[in-house]
Amino acid sequence: MACFFRRKVAAQLCRIFGHKEDAFIPAISAIPVSKKQISPDLQLSVSFLVNNGFLSSDGDFKTKTELLARQLKPDGVIEEVIPSRGGIHFRINKIILAKRLLEQLQKDPQGFGVQSELFRGLHGRRTLVEFSSPNIAKKFHAGHLRSTIIGNFISNLKAALRNEVIRVNYLGDWGMQFGLLGAGFQRLGSQDKLRDNPLQHLFDVYVQINREAENDEAIQEAAREFFRCLEQGDEQSLSLWKQFREITIEEYQRIYKRLGVHFDHYSGESFHQKKTLDVLQQLRDRGLLTVTEKGTGVVDVSPAGDMSSYATVQRSDGTSLYITRDIAAALDRKEKYDFDEMIYVTDKSQAVHFRQLFQILQAMQHPWAERCHHVPFGLVQGMSTRRGEVVFLEDVLDEARNRMLRNMNQSRTTKDLDDPEETAEKVGVSALIVQDFQGPITSDYKFDWDRVLQSRGDTGVFLQYTHARLRSLIRMHDGGEETSCDPLHLQDKRSILILQHLLRYDEVLYQCNQELQPRYLVNFLMTLCHLVASAHKELPVKGSSPAVAQARLHLFGGACTVLANGMAILGIKPVDKM
Ligand code: ARG
Repeated sequence: MACFFRRKVAAQLCRIFGHKEDAFIPAISAIPVSKKQISPDLQLSVSFLVNNGFLSSDGDFKTKTELLARQLKPDGVIEEVIPSRGGIHFRINKIILAKRLLEQLQKDPQGFGVQSELFRGLHGRRTLVEFSSPNIAKKFHAGHLRSTIIGNFISNLKAALRNEVIRVNYLGDWGMQFGLLGAGFQRLGSQDKLRDNPLQHLFDVYVQINREAENDEAIQEAAREFFRCLEQGDEQSLSLWKQFREITIEEYQRIYKRLGVHFDHYSGESFHQKKTLDVLQQLRDRGLLTVTEKGTGVVDVSPAGDMSSYATVQRSDGTSLYITRDIAAALDRKEKYDFDEMIYVTDKSQAVHFRQLFQILQAMQHPWAERCHHVPFGLVQGMSTRRGEVVFLEDVLDEARNRMLRNMNQSRTTKDLDDPEETAEKVGVSALIVQDFQGPITSDYKFDWDRVLQSRGDTGVFLQYTHARLRSLIRMHDGGEETSCDPLHLQDKRSILILQHLLRYDEVLYQCNQELQPRYLVNFLMTLCHLVASAHKELPVKGSSPAVAQARLHLFGGACTVLANGMAILGIKPVDKM
C-alpha cells in the first residue's frame, strides 16, 4: 500500500535526477509511529542518494539535505517536506492516506502488503524449505519444535509473497540406530502397543534396548546384524523398518495438523542412502575425494586447498555418513523440484555441517549451491511438561492447551465458547510461537510456561485477545451490506497512528524476508495491538453518529484484517472468541 505514496516521492526525485522511479523506491520508507505525537509519514534516505551516486559525496550533509528538500515540492498528496537529521521527512495528506489504505484493505484484504512492488522480483520463484525433520524412535526435543515453527513461518511468508513453496520433512530414518531399534523390537516390541501408541512404544523400545546393549555384546551383534540386513535390502527387516516409518509419519501428520503445519513431502536419510554410492563416485570422478591413511574418504573444503579443513564423506568400511546423504538429498531435490532457492532450518550446532555441505556442492560445480541457505536457531533450555522433560511434540501441545484452559476458566467469557478446548489450544500454541519469535532466532533462551502464557504484556495471548475483541466489535455492528467510509471521521490522533502503522506493513514483511527472521512481524503486530487497545478506549463505535461509527468500524476492520493476515504468516490461527 505504501507503494502509492512512495511513488509520489519517487516521481519528484525522478524529475530532479532523471532515472526511473524504481531506482528511488528503496530510499523511501514509512516512519515508525511514535506514541507521543504524530510523526511525519515517510522518510527519504539522503545517504542512499549519495551512495548511489545521485548526490555528490562532497560537501556538508546538512546543506545537501536542505538543498534537495527545497527542490521537493508539496503536491496534492505530499503536504510538507521537512529536512531532518537522517534525511528528508514527508507529511502526507491524511484524508488520502485513510481513503487509499482502507479502500485497498476492503477490496483485496489478502493482497494487502504482499502485493507490494517490493516483492515484484519474487513472484513465481520456487523455494524449497526443509524443516522439523525429527528422528524416528528418538526424542522430539525443543529444537525440533523450533525448527517446525520457524520453517512453517518461512514457508508461510514465502507463500504469501507468491513464491511457490515446497515443504519437506527430512526424517532421521536411517543409520545404525535402526539396527538397535529393529533388534530391540524383535525382543521387546509388541504390535498391539505399536498400534495404540506408536511413538511412545518405539521410544520405549529404543531406550530400553540401548540400556541393555551397553553391557551385552550379543545385543550389539544383533543390532549390527539387523542393520546389515537393512542395508542389503532384506525383505523382512525392511518391512519392519517400513512399518516404523509409516506409523511414525501418520502420527506426526496428526500432530502437525494440531499445529497447523503440513508438508508436501516426507523424505529422509533412508532415501538417499542408496544414492550415496553415486555421490561418492561423482566426487571421485571430479577428483574431490581423498582417501586418508585411516581409509576414510574426505573432501578438502579449506580455502587454501591444504586440508586445514575437510569433511569426511565415507567411513573406512565404505559406508556413508550424514553429510553424504545430505549431498545426495540436495542433488536429488534439485533434479526433482528444480528449486530456485533451498532453505534448511536446524539449530545452530549444525552450522558447520551445512557450510561444508554447500562448499562441497560448490566444489562439484553446482552453481545453485549459492542459493542454498541454512537458517540456524539458538537452543531452548528447560522446556518440560507435567510428564517431565519433553519427549513428544504432542506433550507440548497438550500442556499448552491444558495450562491455557486453566487460565481461561478464571475468565468470565470462557463459558460462552463453543469449544473451549480448541480455543485454548489455538491460544496456547500462539503463545508458544510468539515468545519463540520475539527475539533474534539465533539467541538461546530459557523456557518458562508462566511467562509464555501471560495475558498481559507482549504475548501471543495478547495478540489473540486483541483479534477476538476486534472480531466481536465487528460482529456486533455488522450491518451486512457494504457501507461507505468517510475518511473525514478518521482524522484524530488514534486513527492516524493506526493508519500510519499499517502503511509500514509491506516493509516489515520485506525485512522478515530479507533476514528470514519473524521478530519484525511479531513486533509490528504487538504495536498494532497496543494502538488498537488505545483506540478502543478513545474511539467508541457504540453511541457515535452513524457516519462516525461506520468510519471507525472500517478502521477497526482494516486493523483486524492485517492482524489476522500477519498472525497467519507467523503460523497462528486467529480465534474469533476467547
Ligand atoms: N534429523 C536431524 C536432527 O534431528 C535434522 C535434519 C536436518 N536436515 C538435514 N538435511 N540434515 O538433528
